[in-house]
Amino acid sequence: MRFIVLLFLMIGLLQASDYNEKGMKVYKKSCKNCHGSGDYGAKQLEQAEWEDYFIFHSSKLKKVHANEVKVLEMINALSKKKMANLEAFLVGNAEDSGSVGGCDGNRCGIQSGQVKIRK
Ligand code: HEC
Repeated sequence: MRFIVLLFLMIGLLQASDYNEKGMKVYKKSCKNCHGSGDYGAKQLEQAEWEDYFIFHSSKLKKVHANEVKVLEMINALSKKKMANLEAFLVGNAEDSGSVGGCDGNRCGIQSGQVKIRK
């Protein structure tokens, strides 16, 4: 009985974390090739900075990729829902989010990308 209570507690804790799994998947598919693993990429900016990139239909995110036509097309092709999940993931794992990267089926450890987000 005690074990079951503990199990539910643990599941509750997991769900309360800022780890947006859907957003992580969008990141993996769309951003990881250039900016490195999700944990690493998200930690390059603070929460407010990530929010800034996503307001007004992600105009700032599009602007910084103005010379990367393929990235622009990719961002434009993402649904509103996927963009919202991506933002939730990046904000939830930002530098000042307090979240600590772990290991599971979708991510593991910190690895740097080819394109530094914060120079
Ligand atoms: C094809 C490679 C590529 C992909 C894919 C890509 N980016 Fe970028 N990104 C770049 C390049 C190149 C820059 C410009 C870096 C510079 O100005 O030196 C950049 C810049 C940025 C910046 C601004 C960095 C700064 O300090 O000005 C952010 C934030 C960013 N990308 C986030 C993302 C996110 C989120 C995704 C996924 C939706 C993504 N990028 C996908 C190549 C890519």
